[in-house]
Amino acid sequence: MSLTVAIDGPAAAGKGTISKAVAAHFGFSHLDTGLLYRAVGRRTLQGLNPVEAAQTLTAEELEQGDLRTAEIAQAASKVAVVPEVRAALVDFQRAFARRAGGAVLDGRDIGTVICPNADIKLFVTASAEVRAERRFLELEAKGAEVTRDQVLTDVRERDARDSERSAAPMKAADDAILLDTSDLSIEAALAKAIEIIEKVRPTNP
Ligand code: DC
Repeated sequence: MSLTVAIDGPAAAGKGTISKAVAAHFGFSHLDTGLLYRAVGRRTLQGLNPVEAAQTLTAEELEQGDLRTAEIAQAASKVAVVPEVRAALVDFQRAFARRAGGAVLDGRDIGTVICPNADIKLFVTASAEVRAERRFLELEAKGAEVTRDQVLTDVRERDARDSERSAAPMKAADDAILLDTSDLSIEAALAKAIEIIEKVRPTNP
């Protein structure tokens, strides 16, 4: 069986946590596609050309250092606007999606561009204020020196750039199921995601 689950949505909506837990629950492989853009973004901060960085990216780089910083998030969102950068990352994502045993990919364009034929598509969202608060607490726990206002501005800026770009903008696929986590605990959001997938998942693969 090769079941593909596409989970898209804006920053800090809970899609990463949900994707990881869904993969663990069903025994699927999980790819956080944001890490690809973050790794390319980190390379550009080191002075590399974004297209070259994307074309020579290795899977090992995704495991190296902390890619989940505010600075790398902004750099990722900027390189993600470049069509050649996106094109260079397509094959890796599609190959991952076909993994035997099932795969969960989370990002911005999985259900629309990378895996338009995914078996299950979720679009996980939440209000910008709720997402900024979650991201603030996450960054604060890591010891980062940020303010709530700064994080909210960053979230809004990234939302705008990710959804207004012309190459594969962030948007829910027509056949995606919306999951708004604004008023849900992570446990409740996860339970809903599992319930949705259980309903669609073939019982006799
Ligand atoms: O999910 P994330 O916050 O780690 O993503 C970082 C940036 O990468 C995000 O602002 C936009 C870009 N991205 C993208 O354009 N397409 C994806 N499938 C995943 C991430």
